[in-house]
Amino acid sequence: MDSVEYHSAVAALAWQIELGVDECIADAPVNRYDVPPPAPKPVAAAPLARSAPTAPVPMAEVDPVAVARVAAEAAQDLDGLRAALAAYEHCELKRGARNLVFSDGVPGARVMIVGEAPGRDEDREGRPFVGRAGQLLDKMLAAIGLDRDRSVYITNVLPWRPPQNRDPKPEEIAMMEPFLHRHIALAAPEVLVIVGNHSCQALLGKRGITRLRGDWVEAQGKPALPMFHPAYLLRNPAAKKDAWADLLSLKARLRDG
Ligand code: URA
Repeated sequence: MDSVEYHSAVAALAWQIELGVDECIADAPVNRYDVPPPAPKPVAAAPLARSAPTAPVPMAEVDPVAVARVAAEAAQDLDGLRAALAAYEHCELKRGARNLVFSDGVPGARVMIVGEAPGRDEDREGRPFVGRAGQLLDKMLAAIGLDRDRSVYITNVLPWRPPQNRDPKPEEIAMMEPFLHRHIALAAPEVLVIVGNHSCQALLGKRGITRLRGDWVEAQGKPALPMFHPAYLLRNPAAKKDAWADLLSLKARLRDG
């Protein structure tokens, strides 16, 4: 095995461990390339057709966004929406995730924060923003007198962790949008805080957080403040002064609202 093969095998193994694999199911490895394919089953003779054969009926094409829209709209409350997401089978991310990451905080709080997607810690715990970025988010909120146990509700655009924390694909965002919109309607916050580019894409239809941040806009009929993502602030501490200005703007809005 050359070193490239070795490193990709180790990375593949690490990813499986990450997904929760903790045992092998056979004592010895099986080389699937050496296993002969199963013999074809004998086909029973078809009965003679009495009438002209009809054209094959094409399998109905499922539109995952339409399915999501129907499921999301049918949810009458947040528990119903969580159940609808758990039952949704059209997003590949679900198969690689350990947990559905639905929300944290206080439903009905005045502030709803919309993040991007769960990372490893969130996937493990089934709660959004519990890793390093989440700890920074908690500090940012505390600085203006808010906290997730009393005054903030938190969710993400995607409820399942993308493999290796890759960026969400446009079709994944599109599938999850109906759930997110319903989530906002059911949680009924007064204001939205949209953190990061992918969340802006999902709620505002545009990216460019450096330009968007700090200006109040409207999303889903609510005042919404785009802000830098805490993970970005961890990598770019110089941007914390902009985040502080945005937090003060949020605080003023809540005071005057
Ligand atoms: N980043 C997010 O956008 N959401 C989380 O829940 C964690 C990290």
